Amino acid sequence: MKPLLSATAARAARYLDGLEGRGVAPTPGAVAALSRLDEPLPDHPAEPEAVLALLDELGSPATMASAGGRFFGFVVGGSLPAAVAANWLATAWDQNAGIVVLSPIAAKLEEVAMRWVLDLFGLPPGCGAGFVTCATQANFSGLAAARHALCAGRGWDVETQGLFGAPPIKVVVGEEVHVSVLKALTLLGLGRERVVRVPVDGQGRMRADALPPLDDHSIVCIQAGNVNTGAFDPAAEIVQRAKAAGAWVHVDGAFGLWAAASPAHAHLVRGLAGADSWATDAHKWLNVPYDSGIAFVRDPAHLQAAMAVNAPYLVIGEAREPEHFTPDFSRRARGVEVWAALRSLGRQGLADLIARTCRHATRFAAGLRDAGYAILNDVVINQVLVSFGDAEVTRRVVQSIQADGTCWAGSTVWQGRTAMRISVSSWATTDDDVERSLAAIKRVAASGR
Ligand SMILES: Cc1ncc(COP(=O)(O)O)c(C=O)c1O
Repeated sequence: MKPLLSATAARAARYLDGLEGRGVAPTPGAVAALSRLDEPLPDHPAEPEAVLALLDELGSPATMASAGGRFFGFVVGGSLPAAVAANWLATAWDQNAGIVVLSPIAAKLEEVAMRWVLDLFGLPPGCGAGFVTCATQANFSGLAAARHALCAGRGWDVETQGLFGAPPIKVVVGEEVHVSVLKALTLLGLGRERVVRVPVDGQGRMRADALPPLDDHSIVCIQAGNVNTGAFDPAAEIVQRAKAAGAWVHVDGAFGLWAAASPAHAHLVRGLAGADSWATDAHKWLNVPYDSGIAFVRDPAHLQAAMAVNAPYLVIGEAREPEHFTPDFSRRARGVEVWAALRSLGRQGLADLIARTCRHATRFAAGLRDAGYAILNDVVINQVLVSFGDAEVTRRVVQSIQADGTCWAGSTVWQGRTAMRISVSSWATTDDDVERSLAAIKRVAASGR
């Protein structure tokens, strides 16, 4: 395999080197060329080199250059060098991370990475954790643990009996809840329309004074980092109210929880450690390759009860079995890249990454405000919402910047106003990337395209 892997490494390096000089979005021609993939399944084998050449020729130009420094859409990180390289090595290992006997190294790295992330987030060291695909699955896992705990508290075994006849659970969310939480509730049979929605303020923060009555059969879902504004729900107040009532608190902190790593931003996560479960992503602000999310649950027994199954053919030992904490059974060793990213950054490097991307966001906001455009949010972390005029004008600017290719930003509607969303989440973004992108956005907006 050596020549193939060396040649592939050269292709990958060429791809990454080329990001600087290409447009961020793929060209229409590159996307159109994908139709060449619509061929019948070949009858005969092909040389792996030829397969890779085809993949590179057609695939690389048809990527979104989100691995580079000028992609500001959604909340999408790049991949740190150590994380990309660790991912390659782990792919060569081809480990099934589901059970310890299948991969002692995968299990070990998960345990180490889990300890480090708990420490960074200021969460209790005894939490259980599941390494899942994404924040949506992490929300699902945390809420599955909540469902277990609340039902068990009323003598109902939801894992064996399901929800038919179960004591009803009240789920409370903010008006600005992320759709992934609603998706998780859907999958859990808790119903996405059954939720009680709490009004929010102008930044999208749940109003603690508007919480409904809670009891020990309630789940309160709070948010650390609104996908549009980056705002944090007032955790300390909400957690106090919820805990006094015996309710479960779940935190969707897909990217916001990483603010804890930067001393200048750590105040934003104050109070979140009092919750019962937390969901986060590593593929966003930590900058590891897709896919990588983590669910944490204060009492590991609740997560384990929701997830664990056993069978006689499985070799289950005394150690922490990864599959006891995730919806998946067989899966890739996601802890490898989380470990590699954190091992390469260290506490200081991660703090710099978080602070630097927040500083870039602040620079975008200042530059656009100075140019006369309205910034619609308080830029507390890495998210900026900017309006260039009415909805039509703003939409045109977004389309134009995407077509221009200097950078890529998406759009949203924030409390009735159409806005461009700028999310600075990549380790790769430099001051120069920000200045080039800012200049391009201002040029495009001024030309009225
Ligand atoms: C607050 C929040 N929660 C959940 C998600 C879902 O993350 P994922 O796409 O990794 O499932 C996102 C994505 O941006 C988010 O911003």
